[in-house]
Amino acid sequence: MSNWRIPLSDLDYGTEEEAAALRVLRSGWLSMGPEVEAFEAEFAEFIGVKHAIAVANGTAALHLSYLALGLGRGDEIIQPAINFVAAANMTVAVGATPVFADIPGVQEPTIDPGDLEKRITSRTKAVVVMHYGGYLCRMAEICAICRRHGLALIEDACHAVGARYMDPEHRPPHGKMAGTLGDVACFSFFSNKNMATGEGGMVVTDRDDLAERLRFLRSHGMTTLTWDRHKGHASSYNVVSHGFNYRLDEIRAALGRAQLRKLRENNRLRGEIVASYRRQLAGLPAWTVPFADYFGDSAYHLMIAVVPDEPVRGKVVKALHEAGVQTSLHYPSIADFKAFRSFTADGLEHSRSFAGRTITLPLFPKMTEKQVEEISTLIGRMYAVRAELRREA
Ligand SMILES: Cc1ncc(COP(=O)(O)O)c(C=O)c1O
Repeated sequence: MSNWRIPLSDLDYGTEEEAAALRVLRSGWLSMGPEVEAFEAEFAEFIGVKHAIAVANGTAALHLSYLALGLGRGDEIIQPAINFVAAANMTVAVGATPVFADIPGVQEPTIDPGDLEKRITSRTKAVVVMHYGGYLCRMAEICAICRRHGLALIEDACHAVGARYMDPEHRPPHGKMAGTLGDVACFSFFSNKNMATGEGGMVVTDRDDLAERLRFLRSHGMTTLTWDRHKGHASSYNVVSHGFNYRLDEIRAALGRAQLRKLRENNRLRGEIVASYRRQLAGLPAWTVPFADYFGDSAYHLMIAVVPDEPVRGKVVKALHEAGVQTSLHYPSIADFKAFRSFTADGLEHSRSFAGRTITLPLFPKMTEKQVEEISTLIGRMYAVRAELRREA
């Protein structure tokens, strides 16, 4: 379905997903019901959390998390400048102020705990971390900072389903799954994610108080669902808080259950592809493949490289596109988007350097070694031509 010879990402959909969708179509029930309940239970067990609440998408998961934590007007939420814009947009949506923190360097594009701590003020109420590309942030330090300053911790784990935190010094919270390290965590099942349902998301938490608020907020603050009334378990409802319709439907939940069963193996395959890229791109002058020293189980959501400068990136992108290879950019610095320029502007040098030089290469579980070789050869050849031109000049 793609015009690209080698797309950036590709679904692993087959007979399991077909059967899942058919099961729902034949059941005669489409909106939130037994498939969603089963998906939540299976996801909670997989992550190792008490509560998993399925929602319409990852952005809704973030929005509800902020509201359940009581974040709003006058509050500051510290978050990375290198992220998809959803966490920042939802900050503004609840009336709070996003404060952007830098990354430690281009080799580790996750929030810098030292810079995060420097940006804490009396108005800071929460921290959002984003496990970029499936690699966890420096959680031992970040959890300690949040504890010390009494801040809520939200994991934007949209890239990191199935990833596990390992600390090189074996400090707590060593060995924990992404999504179990903060007060609440958010996942996305958008089409290009490791687990894809088209649109879809999940909020997870161990806290009973947050789970209760999240469930009310997801569905208009209503005390019963249409499904409860359909089953005859309830005949009316009350509205106990203001809320939204951020529910997930049965077809997507069924697709999610099928995708969850494939996740471990697909993350393993992604890891092999990333290792192959690392071997083949090693030696390119002034190129960095981030997270070289990463210690832990990544979800390997993205294959990124940081090239020497912006003009080189432009040439690499052009050469790959001409050869039918799709690329992307994760991400521009949010602080430099027009809508966010009035927020933090200073001290984001590493984020800006990363945003100007990063390139995302194709990565999906069914990608072949040959495709990795082809992409690496194309890039290597481009360098050879440049070196030749320099010699002739
Ligand atoms: C890091 C990150 N956060 C949040 C989101 C938002 O998720 P969704 O697209 O499901 O709303 C995404 C998805 O694109 C993401 O990559």
